[in-house]
Amino acid sequence: MVTETYSVGILGATGIVGQRLVRRLQHHPWFRLEGLAASERSAGKSYGEAVTWTLGGEPPSYAAGMEVRRCAPDSLAGCDLVFSSLDAAVARDVEAAFSLAGVHVISNSSAYRMDPAVPLVIPEINRSHLGLLEKAGAGTGKGHIVTNPNCSVIGLAMALAPLHQAFGVQAAVVTTLQALSGAGLSGPTRGEMEDNVLPHIKGEEEKIQQELPKIFGRLDPAGVIEPARIRVAAHCNRIGTVDGHLETVSVLLDRPVAPEQAVQVFRRFRGEIDGLDLPSAPAIPIKVMDQPDRPQPRLDRDTGDGMTVVVGRVRECPVTTLRFCLLSHNTERGAAGAALLNGELMAACGLLGRTGS
Ligand SMILES: NC(=O)c1ccc[n+]([C@@H]2O[C@H](COP(=O)([O-])OP(=O)(O)OC[C@H]3O[C@@H](n4cnc5c(N)ncnc54)[C@H](OP(=O)(O)O)[C@@H]3O)[C@@H](O)[C@H]2O)c1
Repeated sequence: MVTETYSVGILGATGIVGQRLVRRLQHHPWFRLEGLAASERSAGKSYGEAVTWTLGGEPPSYAAGMEVRRCAPDSLAGCDLVFSSLDAAVARDVEAAFSLAGVHVISNSSAYRMDPAVPLVIPEINRSHLGLLEKAGAGTGKGHIVTNPNCSVIGLAMALAPLHQAFGVQAAVVTTLQALSGAGLSGPTRGEMEDNVLPHIKGEEEKIQQELPKIFGRLDPAGVIEPARIRVAAHCNRIGTVDGHLETVSVLLDRPVAPEQAVQVFRRFRGEIDGLDLPSAPAIPIKVMDQPDRPQPRLDRDTGDGMTVVVGRVRECPVTTLRFCLLSHNTERGAAGAALLNGELMAACGLLGRTGS
């Protein structure tokens, strides 16, 4: 039971993910938003002036008057923890600087995801990977860096986790239909995407193929994550939907499995945080829909406050074992909500203590 509250900041607070974090933190029971930071373009302005608010209505009043600062530890002095939603190129140095200054960092960016000393965590699947921190952080005075996976990987990993536990996953082929918000504020507009699909998203296929084996990997007693031996092939496409990544998956299991058996394990899945009462955890991590034309992004992306992954069309596959589709909200389950859930898990595990530096 977490009784403490923590002062938190957001790096990249004006971006697509940063805005979701601002909204989600408004009534958070454990985290108090005390610092907002973005680029030099925004620094010195009030949040309300700096942000191009994309979530309908006005920026929340509790944040609108706060001054946006530079992304440097001295600008956010007093924060125990920062949620980072910066581009990877910027994030590498900035996140390292916060960690060195003794501030814990939970990152949406890819900068440190594949670093062997950094946990890449989905709380329902691999909370044990936080064990890496005991080795890396002990006695150094540094803040922990914990990352959440790429937004397409999170939905895929959530759906494959129960299948892997029950039947063993050997390989998966995934085709993504990714929403516009996944490209951030500088991505293509709805107008530019009308009557079009972009059959390439830079670096995305590689991220899916690399991150999934790390997430499903085993933390060995020497403190090394041994990646799972799962082969993944990804085909990534950008489409004109606003939010919510739809993915179609063919999966090769260790043995023949009927679609009904798979549906049963999806429905039973609760994951490794069942019973912890983390504020951002959905009531059910996976919802299975029976209608043949669901899930659909516009209708189903907000299931479980955007934190439930919705699976549908579970059926036999003539080439692998099974086929299905899944939908996950890329900026909630895939980013802001995922980061918050990681922070909540760290709090529940006693990993957000002051570093003493
Ligand atoms: N969008 C998604 O669905 C999603 C999902 C999972 C992970 N991610 C990852 O999350 C991160 C943020 O994505 P996003 O979509 O929110 O991006 P975004 O909308 O482009 O926002 C980028 C943020 O970074 C700030 N920034 C840019 N250059 C900076 C600099 N040199 N120094 C300090 N701050 C700087 C921007 O501030 P200004 O407004 O001042 O320019 C803005 O706040 C990326 O690493 C992305 O890969 C995104």
